[in-house]
Amino acid sequence: MSQHTAHRIAVIGGDGIGPEVTAAALEVVAATGVALETTEFDLGAARYLRDGFVLDDATLSALGSHDAILLGAIGPAIGDTRIPGGLLERGLLLRIRFGLDLYINYRPFRATPGSLAEGCEFAIVRENTEGPYAGEGGVLRSGTPQEIATQGSVNTRFGVERCIRYAFERAITLPRPKVTLVHKTNVLTFAGDLWRRVMAEVSSEYPTVEVDYQHVDAACIYLVEDPKRYGILVTDNLFGDILSDLAGAVTGGIGYAASANLNPPRVNASLFEPVHGAAHDIVGTNRANPLAAIVSSVLMLEHLGENEAAQRIRTAVADFDGDTVALGTTGITKEILRRI
Ligand code: IPM
Ligand code: MN
Repeated sequence: MSQHTAHRIAVIGGDGIGPEVTAAALEVVAATGVALETTEFDLGAARYLRDGFVLDDATLSALGSHDAILLGAIGPAIGDTRIPGGLLERGLLLRIRFGLDLYINYRPFRATPGSLAEGCEFAIVRENTEGPYAGEGGVLRSGTPQEIATQGSVNTRFGVERCIRYAFERAITLPRPKVTLVHKTNVLTFAGDLWRRVMAEVSSEYPTVEVDYQHVDAACIYLVEDPKRYGILVTDNLFGDILSDLAGAVTGGIGYAASANLNPPRVNASLFEPVHGAAHDIVGTNRANPLAAIVSSVLMLEHLGENEAAQRIRTAVADFDGDTVALGTTGITKEILRRI
């Protein structure tokens, strides 16, 4: 792609350390010479507390018509009860994921030296628009002793198939192509059966890819005890959410974990964000680790076809061996810039 046409990026710095880490990521991208035309979108907890706005259709479609969206973090400080739980999650983050059909949540992990999974590299492909996140369910007889709460899980053949297919497409780019389906087929028999059958069908089209299956509880053990067995893990929305925090922890901490919320056919902008939260307790103290946001911007550059720039940042991050605590946000960013 031409270095001269600027990519139009919607930036949602968001709350807490979000704006600090997206600023660092944008500085690093700028150093590669890739031109970005950024538009800031003021969204998140602070915005909601100021004027009650979460997201509307016009803003959603404005976001979706960019070339990509870079997001820092969304959420109030822990213990701040002014925002009802789930309001921003469902009203903003999930609304963007569902509204723009960002049906893949791709989360690559590369273990840092000294971490439990040292030497390992693997990725989670999480279905991002269905499962329990679809919000099926409700409450009856609310507040009474007979109260009933149900929470369904939506699994469509279409949704499962496009997710598993994406996992295989990722896998064939690996030196040792392998896809592990993670589910709980022994208990969640209806959804599990669908995932397993679609896995068998799709895998037959990819004879060079090794396939494996694990129950999600077993996967939790293996992620800690034998993470080198993995290439791509593919799983549903909720299992993927939980497993990616565990994967972050064993590969060096959530401060390093990046993610891409993808619309692979590129009908709408895809969204790139660090997995970590807003960490209000360290705002403005230069203690936020920008590496997860920087790696998220690498995923963004790859999606935009800027592979050379992406590779330069990737190498700089891989070579970085500084003390993140001593260096702080600005120090880490300078170290990455120096290596580009
Ligand atoms: C994540 C987050 C979100 C999720 C929350 C904030 C809704 O935990 O991106 O992993 O559960 O998907
Ligand atoms: Mn999560």
